[in-house]
Amino acid sequence: MKQDLLTFADWTPEAMENLLQLAIEIKQAPASYSNVLAGKSVVALFEKPSLRTRVSFDIGINKLGGHMVYLDVQSGKLAGREDSVDTAANIACWADAIVARVFSHDTLTTFANAANIPVVNALCDKYHPCQGLADYITMFERFGKTKGLTMAYVGDGNNVTHSLLIVGALLGCNQVVITPQGHEADASVVAHAKTLAAQTGASIVESTELNAAKGADVIYTDTWLSMGDETPLATIKEKFMPYQVNEALMESSGARYVMHCQPAHRDLEITGSLIDSDKSLLMQQAENRMHGQNAILTQLLSA
Ligand code: CP
Ligand code: NVA
Repeated sequence: MKQDLLTFADWTPEAMENLLQLAIEIKQAPASYSNVLAGKSVVALFEKPSLRTRVSFDIGINKLGGHMVYLDVQSGKLAGREDSVDTAANIACWADAIVARVFSHDTLTTFANAANIPVVNALCDKYHPCQGLADYITMFERFGKTKGLTMAYVGDGNNVTHSLLIVGALLGCNQVVITPQGHEADASVVAHAKTLAAQTGASIVESTELNAAKGADVIYTDTWLSMGDETPLATIKEKFMPYQVNEALMESSGARYVMHCQPAHRDLEITGSLIDSDKSLLMQQAENRMHGQNAILTQLLSA
């Protein structure tokens, strides 16, 4: 039976750990994986812009011996022409997998039900699982483990927060989620992550106070306004500015590294100087997007 990768929420800690190790193996010995997608084609359908996800999937699939077709659904020329079920069923006539970046998570479940080929979530309103995987690969590389580490996420509770919570819980990484009031992570995702964390011994704490980051190994942040959110920056800037990830927070928390999924907005959610500092893991995270995704595709398509 085909498997999709929409959230990681139904994965076991063991399966998550194995996938992380597969990604590291592929990164270290790419030649051993250069044919796993030979003769296979992946359709990448994007309803929103992307640099990292689009390019890392395209080049990554090429490195596995496969072929990617990019489908632009942002221009308006494809949007609304037919129902999502029909789009997905047609793609499944030719392709071996669908990678999709969509506005609504429901579109992904529609695709997954309509297509008899694997569907991979390349970001939706609720999750960004490929990002979460890359980020814990990065932490593993830096610390030699994920279990027992603490990540403090500071900023808007969003799709990236949710995937960090789920993947982190499965990998035994403690989470502190610090958001301004009214911008918390989704309560049902937090509750589910806590049930996963109970299996690995990880803790999950929510706070509106920056001092909750004290003792964290890494500080993580993301944009205050996610794609599709038309809220004017001016209306939220004052509320979010105290949550800026900067040198003072790195100092007071004692964190060794700073992380951000990017695109980053210099001197808003993170200072430009911190991005450019030796505490920054941003480019390593970006690089690991490809290796993590290649592990996902290897697992879903070589089964
Ligand atoms: N981090 C990430 O998903 O970047 P893109 O939006 O550029 O793909
Ligand atoms: N939360 C951000 C992540 C971008 C990679 C967004 O959805 O726009």
